[in-house]
Amino acid sequence: MILPVYTYGSAVLRKKSEPIDSGYPNIKELIDNMFETMHSASGVGLAAPQIGLPIRVLVIDFAQIEDKTDPELSKFRVAMINPRMLYMSEETSVEEEGCLSIPGINENVARSKHIKIKYLDTDFNEHTEDFSDYRARAIQHEYDHLEGKLFTDKVSQLRRQLIKSKLNNIVKGKVNCKYRVSK
Ligand code: NI
Repeated sequence: MILPVYTYGSAVLRKKSEPIDSGYPNIKELIDNMFETMHSASGVGLAAPQIGLPIRVLVIDFAQIEDKTDPELSKFRVAMINPRMLYMSEETSVEEEGCLSIPGINENVARSKHIKIKYLDTDFNEHTEDFSDYRARAIQHEYDHLEGKLFTDKVSQLRRQLIKSKLNNIVKGKVNCKYRVSK
């Protein structure tokens, strides 16, 4: 089921999300719905607060990314429950990011190049994995959502000033995107 995406200005996007346990109702169905919502909006990542739920769940799927230097990249698909960042490298890289909750805005963001993260899969089995570059970037972006942080918080003061009116328009509900949104 495709769910509406909560946009910039929604209080749920600024909450610190809570961990869940294996008793959480219909978690697999919820994660399926998150993948479906993300795919229908042509996104590559989605965190539960973006569908209005302040719980620590995120999904990522790079199926639509084509990178000839890394053909494996498009196979990257993961759902993480209760992720916990164990390491973020001091070494960073800067790339342009966007967010389904902030339609029409793309900005350069510095992120750690390498991370180590512990998480539960959809069967609540624990994994600890290292990720680098674009995978690490996407995970950091979605992980930030669980902390109530948005990528626009991380752009330079000057850029933030320049996108201020666009952000205010989103707060007012003036959004131009092809998927269903909510407040
Ligand atoms: Ni986002």
